[in-house]
Amino acid sequence: ANMWSGLLEEYRNRLPVEVSDPIVTLYEGNTPLVRSPRLETRVAEASAGAGVDGSGTEIYVKFEGANPTGSFKDRGMTMAMTKVKAAGTQMVACASTGNTSASAAAYAVAAAIGCAVILPAGKIALGKLAQAVMHGAQLVAVDGNFDDCLRITRELTEQYPVALVNSINPYRLQGQKTAAFEICDALGDAPDIHVLPVGNAGNISAYWMGYNEYFGRKVTSSIEDSALHLKPLTTKLPRMWGIQAEGAAPFVVGHPVDNPETIATAIRIGNPASWAYAAAARDDSGGLITAVSDQAIMEAQAIIAAEVGVFCEPASAASVAGLLALASAGQVPAGARIVCTLTGNGLKDTATAMEVRGDVTPPVIAPELSAAVQALGL
Ligand code: F0G
Repeated sequence: ANMWSGLLEEYRNRLPVEVSDPIVTLYEGNTPLVRSPRLETRVAEASAGAGVDGSGTEIYVKFEGANPTGSFKDRGMTMAMTKVKAAGTQMVACASTGNTSASAAAYAVAAAIGCAVILPAGKIALGKLAQAVMHGAQLVAVDGNFDDCLRITRELTEQYPVALVNSINPYRLQGQKTAAFEICDALGDAPDIHVLPVGNAGNISAYWMGYNEYFGRKVTSSIEDSALHLKPLTTKLPRMWGIQAEGAAPFVVGHPVDNPETIATAIRIGNPASWAYAAAARDDSGGLITAVSDQAIMEAQAIIAAEVGVFCEPASAASVAGLLALASAGQVPAGARIVCTLTGNGLKDTATAMEVRGDVTPPVIAPELSAAVQALGL
């Protein structure tokens, strides 16, 4: 059998990995790319409602919730943590809305080093908090938002021998760009449109970097692209469509937002660190960054669960919510090949999903087949 050996081994020739680097991996990556005929039908119908032909699309979801800690953060963390270990630093720190901290905590275990996580108090989904606790991280809750946490973490890591593993650590984006590689490898070329949620704006920047590298072009990064001598593997670049939550949409309003608010706590961010890279991804790709309501996010989460068979977290569903909204606005071209990233696993935040459902308590029956049959209406 061909064992998957983790991102750094699989894409070694395109990553800044040295022979002497002690590779820290939980065998992340290789996540499912699932085509969805029912989303294709929804997009065609929404387009028709706008008087536009949106038929013949191919729509895929890239389920990053299948990574070891349940989000795309693991791609960046294997690369960043490998470099921390190579440098001999004994501790890492991150600010997080939950997923980065879960991933950092797990990879710190794999690297056998310490991990501090700085979180906005009361705004982390319980599953993510449980992950950081179980992996033995030191948790600090700040009476403030993610942007406050990131500021504190930057200051902390500048003044103490602690390595920063937020996405402003350039190795994070290097690891995360591999998701674009996997998509191109699976489809045989780049898609026409790539849709994903935007919070701190690292991931959209990383995908754009990855797509460009497979196309044979360099995108600005503080790290030398190691693979530009390799022959291009794709014939085109996708348009990048970034989706924010309406209450936390700095790219849409055009400036940082002071008090970001959204049910999708993962993207409750007002002052994105990778602003310039993300704006370049949007503009150079002929793409866009738009916003959707919390209600549209929760509806999309339910649609993806009930019609694709993937349970993603609210922030992830923003991608599909945005695609459906843009289809309703007549923006999806007929025949386009489209990939939506589902960034994290729905199991991380079951409370929010269930809350929106209202009363979901199943009927309690007598321990008899007949009672089950009756309750099921068979
Ligand atoms: N989706 C999920 C599930 C996330 O956790 C995040 C970011 C994003 C999307 C947005 O990605 O920040 O690269 O634009 N979560 C970070 C965290 C902020 O701390 O876990 P981005």
